Amino acid sequence: MRSASAAAPEAARPLQYLSGFGNHFATEALPGALPEGRNSPQRCPYGLYAEQLSGTAFTAPRAANRRSWLYRIQPAAVQGEFRPLAHPGVLGRFAELPVPPDPLRWSALPVPTEPTDFIDGLLSAGGAGSSEAHSGCAIHWYRANRSMRERFFYDADGELLIVPQLGALRVASELGVLELEPQEIVVVPRGVRFRVELLGPEARGYVCENFGAPLKLPDLGPIGSNGLANPRDFLAPVAWFEEREGPMELVAKVGGALWSAELDHSPLDVVAWHGNHAPYKYDLRRFNTIGSVSYDHPDPSIFLVLHSVSDTPGVDAIDFVIFPPRWLAMQDTFRPPWFHRNVASEFMGLIHGLYDAKASGFEPGGASLHNCMSGHGPDAETFERATHADTSAPQRIADTMAFMFETRTLIHPTPQALALPQRQRDYARCWQGLGKHFNARAPR
Ligand SMILES: [Fe+2]
Repeated sequence: MRSASAAAPEAARPLQYLSGFGNHFATEALPGALPEGRNSPQRCPYGLYAEQLSGTAFTAPRAANRRSWLYRIQPAAVQGEFRPLAHPGVLGRFAELPVPPDPLRWSALPVPTEPTDFIDGLLSAGGAGSSEAHSGCAIHWYRANRSMRERFFYDADGELLIVPQLGALRVASELGVLELEPQEIVVVPRGVRFRVELLGPEARGYVCENFGAPLKLPDLGPIGSNGLANPRDFLAPVAWFEEREGPMELVAKVGGALWSAELDHSPLDVVAWHGNHAPYKYDLRRFNTIGSVSYDHPDPSIFLVLHSVSDTPGVDAIDFVIFPPRWLAMQDTFRPPWFHRNVASEFMGLIHGLYDAKASGFEPGGASLHNCMSGHGPDAETFERATHADTSAPQRIADTMAFMFETRTLIHPTPQALALPQRQRDYARCWQGLGKHFNARAPR
């Protein structure tokens, strides 16, 4: 597929996208910029440089292989020397951090009043595994009140799944421009250079930094060939470039730390590209939700949008799960999520509305963390209501969009997250009202 766009996003409204998950796209911002019939000709059109960006091992199976060819004004190697960039909010190593077994919850973090861009406003909530071992993830909050302008970022440690909760974003990347609003997500692959611009006065959201295998759509098994997140709803950008010179900064995250190098030009100078290692966005409101139409409700794996698979079949390193608006039709059933203790660890956030397992305390922008085998479930108020609800008729959960980053490994909360004033130290009290109803002489 080939598509062209104007050289500036302002001139290209509405933005064009390429549809499909993991497709091999071909796109050029100037006619004829893509070499024909080969990846690395002796001389590229328009005097461009050819550069390959690989996202998986060269020898990865074809179905899992990710790489793109970029045709750019100057190669990525044209950059200054990197120096450590101090950032008290970003942590990269988690293994030594203690994991309190308590359920944890935070109210929404305020957006700073001092000038703060996407990088400045990152705050690590927790993490698992190791970026060096290409296994596990880090979870961050972001808060921002200004765009990155002469500042660019790439992450060698992992792929970035960005979940906006407040404020629309324009993500200008080497491979093109994407715009998204809350209830949409964007995934920026490992190594892709980009900047985050704000389309409103403030922005806030969540980031899952995936150290492991790139996120992919799950197999559907008995669901069939359609449903959950459908491939054509995933949108990649068309080629776009800017030819800008002047003092600029490239921030890199490598080995759990941030680094900064000087640039004398914008790295967003890719005039054409082809391949399948590209950013993409997805509107969570497009999710085709599956649920019970008889009794009980299935395990929450039916809400899986994307997952990063581990070396053990069926056991994911990361599950990205959403709880979207839906009908609850199951009869004679406790309809909210049941009480549970899971082997997986769960970091939850609320993007919009109300979450059906918590009557209060879990607000949009807030978060909770329930680590492996931590008992949790609906709060006392929700339990009371659900056990007396009329289940003879369907019930619509209309105003909600919650999500979960679920991992096979413990999520170590950072000292910064544990010390936040927004941490609800009385969170566990929401279950203390669950009194005894047991009566050995009254089976019903
Ligand atoms: Fe849970």
